[in-house]
Amino acid sequence: MSRAWTAEAFYTQLEEPPALAEHTQHVREFVARQGAEGRKVVLVTSGGTTVPLEKNVVRFLDNFSAGTRGAASAEYFLEAGYAVIFMSRQFSQFPFTRWYSHTTNPLFDLLEEPAEGEERVRVSQDHVKGLLPILHSYHEAKRRGRLLTVPFVTVIEYLFLLKNVSEAMAPLGRHGMHYLAAAVSDFFVPTDKLSEHKIQSDNQSLTLQLEPVPKVLGALVDSWAPDAYVVSFKLETDDKMLIPKAERSLRNYGHHLVIGNLLQRRKYEIVLVEPHDHTWIRLPSPPAAPPHEIERDIVAAIAERHQAWIASV
Ligand code: PMT
Repeated sequence: MSRAWTAEAFYTQLEEPPALAEHTQHVREFVARQGAEGRKVVLVTSGGTTVPLEKNVVRFLDNFSAGTRGAASAEYFLEAGYAVIFMSRQFSQFPFTRWYSHTTNPLFDLLEEPAEGEERVRVSQDHVKGLLPILHSYHEAKRRGRLLTVPFVTVIEYLFLLKNVSEAMAPLGRHGMHYLAAAVSDFFVPTDKLSEHKIQSDNQSLTLQLEPVPKVLGALVDSWAPDAYVVSFKLETDDKMLIPKAERSLRNYGHHLVIGNLLQRRKYEIVLVEPHDHTWIRLPSPPAAPPHEIERDIVAAIAERHQAWIASV
């Protein structure tokens, strides 16, 4: 029988992920350092979450999210002067390195093979102009200690981290922002229902019973970080559902803003849904080259609202 998990039951009945205490400590130290310097801090969650089907995990359920939205937004938040806690799915897109990853723009295509006897690898001249500003921003974020990364893989890890990171950010008050772009699984298999070892096929069909993941945004808004500025995302594939569902989320959780996006048009069209307002942000389609990313406009719009909200006390 399937259980209806409350957030409280989830956090008390499931076992904490092994690295939770260590990540939480890093976040506390980061927050204390940034807070002492009066800096705004944003938590950016990014990428999909997995749902393991075995304890010794061979198979898992996953979703489409590559973490592009989160990684790009993190870069623009850094540019806007924020310190960033980048909580992302391991091996999904990462700020700065995303420009040269995977198959679209492989890093090795930038590098020239050295002549015989030479031990220095050079960036080919055609790529220097594109690479330099990215390399500079990457090193600057590192040098100034403005970017903290916190990895997760499973939905259980994500939810435990979200709670602890949010609580660790509470001392920032209004200077803290939550920008929840991760695509979080709505269903999971609780640990006590997982097969210990690889599920055997034996030529039989497999029936899975998944349980609903508890909604935790209400707890974040009401108790974990009650003074923070909270932005959630709503992804739909049917455009008729987008605004009603974003509005429903705002009503249910009482946070500040929902960014609505459609799977098919998410890279060049989003809507900012606030209690009394909808604001569309649209890029020309297809995007112009050199690319103007929609995340640049999203972050500018959100940072302005966050600042107005800080100033309104
Ligand atoms: O990564 P990319 O490929 O670039 O794609 C980006 C994106 C499309 C994934 C991103 O823009 C996006 O829309 N992310 C949110 C996807 C979504 O609709 O999530 P959701 O419906 O599961 O959650 C909506 C909100 O409910 C979330 O902000 C979340 O904090 C909240 N929630 C979710 C799960 C959960 N257990 N409890 C919650 O309260």
